[in-house]
Amino acid sequence: MRPPHPPPLDSRFRGNDVTGASVTQYYGYTPLRGNDEPGTSVPDRVKDAAIIMDVLRGSTTRLAEAGCATSRLDAELLLMEVLGWSREDLYRSHEGTLDAFEAKRFEALVTRRERGEPIAYLIGRREFWSLDFIVSADVLIPRPETEHLVEAVVDFLASRPGSQRILDLGTGSGAIAVCVAKECPRAEVWATDISAAALAVARNNARRHGVDHRIRWLQGDLFTPLRGSAECFDALVSNPPYIPSREIAWLPGDVSEWEPALALDGGTDGMDFYPRIVRDGTPRLREGGLLALEVGGDLAGRVSELYRAHGELRRVRVLQDYAGLPRVVAGEKRP
Ligand SMILES: C[S@@+](CC[C@H](N)C(=O)[O-])C[C@H]1O[C@@H](n2cnc3c(N)ncnc32)[C@H](O)[C@@H]1O
Repeated sequence: MRPPHPPPLDSRFRGNDVTGASVTQYYGYTPLRGNDEPGTSVPDRVKDAAIIMDVLRGSTTRLAEAGCATSRLDAELLLMEVLGWSREDLYRSHEGTLDAFEAKRFEALVTRRERGEPIAYLIGRREFWSLDFIVSADVLIPRPETEHLVEAVVDFLASRPGSQRILDLGTGSGAIAVCVAKECPRAEVWATDISAAALAVARNNARRHGVDHRIRWLQGDLFTPLRGSAECFDALVSNPPYIPSREIAWLPGDVSEWEPALALDGGTDGMDFYPRIVRDGTPRLREGGLLALEVGGDLAGRVSELYRAHGELRRVRVLQDYAGLPRVVAGEKRP
């Protein structure tokens, strides 16, 4: 989305006390009766109000004009956020109103969305594996495709007896680490990221989901924080950055311009991380342990080749996502 930049919020409201009249003009919906009729005695709440249905219509149009493909949905999500409502509430109360404060907050969010900022950053969360994850601009917004990676690990661990130790490299929001910890009560998870800011978000998510005490957080480049430790793992999982550097600019603007390059950039051909993870990760696996890596684009073949060439990995397989695209390369360490 590359919309014409609207003037800053403050100047739009300059000279107004954010009454219904100014808010109304702003959104382009029909004012309530009496809004600008001097001398009418309409109660403030009504006078200053904006009808939800009209707000929804106006903001959907604006977002569509800004190039937003999911304009109606986005407008609804932002409105639900401002009102603290569910979608059912929204549909049930179409005739309800926003007060001036709510309208101002909604306007600020719509303006940011017009400029391309992802909805997940605007509302500060994204659902993953049916759990609510806090997200900020410091972390990749977790994608549904990554649930296949979680599923591969959870299924594998279900059939592995005893205590279990899992390593999640590049944990970001903590989506994988937290879900594995929640699904596998015997698991102790180690989660790394090179970004301290991402680790803070991940840790917050682990606390919210009651698994922080079962996750060890380590900051640094891939296996570097494990240096000096002989720790081995039942499963090593990672969704590393895998977008070829020059292709980042071709991604939709709400990805390329807003999500952290650190989480996207996989180097010249997207393959920067895989050889290192296979080489340094396999010795960190216990016998029969799982190495499961998310892949994008057309990297599955090359990553599978790395697994096979290593010699210590067997049962190398590629798992597809719901779209039928190769999404996870998995293999197990030979006994
Ligand atoms: C594609 S994101 C995955 C985030 C999360 N695991 C998920 O699936 O949603 C990759 C993550 O790797 C981290 N990262 C990038 N380079 C790294 C490195 N050299 N060592 C460790 N983590 C790194 C990024 O900060 C980012 O959080």
